[in-house]
Amino acid sequence: MKEKIAVLMGGRSLEREVSLRSGTRVCDALSERGYREVPLDVTPELVATLRSERPDAAYIALHGKDGEDGAVQEVLEFLGIPYTGPGVVASTLAWDKAVSKRLFREHGIPTPAWVTFSTAAFKQMGAATALDLVPDAVGGFPLVVKPSEQGSALGLTRVTEASELPNALMNALSYGDKAIVERWIEGTELAVSVLDLGDGLQVLPPVEMVAKSGLFDFSAMYTPGETDYYVPARLTPEIEAEVRRLAEQVHTLLGCRHVSRVDMVVAADGTPYVLECNTSPGMTETSLLPMAAEAVGIGFQELVEKLARMALDGLE
Ligand SMILES: Nc1ncnc2c1ncn2[C@@H]1O[C@H](COP(=O)(O)OP(=O)(O)O)[C@@H](O)[C@H]1O
Ligand SMILES: [Mg+2]
Repeated sequence: MKEKIAVLMGGRSLEREVSLRSGTRVCDALSERGYREVPLDVTPELVATLRSERPDAAYIALHGKDGEDGAVQEVLEFLGIPYTGPGVVASTLAWDKAVSKRLFREHGIPTPAWVTFSTAAFKQMGAATALDLVPDAVGGFPLVVKPSEQGSALGLTRVTEASELPNALMNALSYGDKAIVERWIEGTELAVSVLDLGDGLQVLPPVEMVAKSGLFDFSAMYTPGETDYYVPARLTPEIEAEVRRLAEQVHTLLGCRHVSRVDMVVAADGTPYVLECNTSPGMTETSLLPMAAEAVGIGFQELVEKLARMALDGLE
């Protein structure tokens, strides 16, 4: 028998169900490869269980708050358990779109124009009196309102006229304390995964998503048949090279290790815009990282084992 690996999944985030799907597949893969996998839901007993189980490593199959924002990573470091995926600082930076987008802008990485509002801005500073300035600040309609810290397109609204803006903001702010209003980029949607497995960065083929409903929302992401996927994406060689370069730049800039997935939209004029970077990409049957890995001959089990080995072998 090989090493013992705790697979962290579930938790209380809104992406709990997605995480359980990722985690179950990860457990099956580890088991097939001869590891002793211990599936662990994130509950108030987690720390006590980790102390008694004493796993050799933890595989983080959590998505969303607490699993992807640095919280569980801090706990694992405190307990001295090596884990898969980016560390605390990279997780924190990537999870907060308002922060990571500022870093993108400062480093010349194109990202749609945006403004950020906190709950405090409305409750204590009267920001509601300036909502009329917002459309011009981001370059006009349509625009998108989304929580700064969330995933799976939860709390996201596409807004086409000013009257819809207050409700969209209230909706986004019901998911967390910060919301961003961003210019909507019409174009080709891409997810570009980066593997960083000890022998140099490997950017996987970009995956193109075409949601049949026109919106790549929660249902389009996780219901088989609702989205068409193209791997590799249908891009010119020049644009493909550029999106690969950007994914690598984002991964490095945020200080990611092991794996990340950068979501982008390529506008009609060929300009790629980076939307966000995910530090715990989905591992479900419709997820984009496994699809991209498959395209270069890395099967699901192999992908999981390679990531687990990074943690087990203490590799950054
Ligand atoms: N500015 C934008 N322009 C076009 N589409 C967007 C924009 N922002 C978000 N979307 C759409 O919503 C999806 C989710 O947005 P994203 O920023 O990746 O947040 P998350 O995946 O964390 O919820 C994207 O994959 C894309 O389909
Ligand atoms: Mg995304």
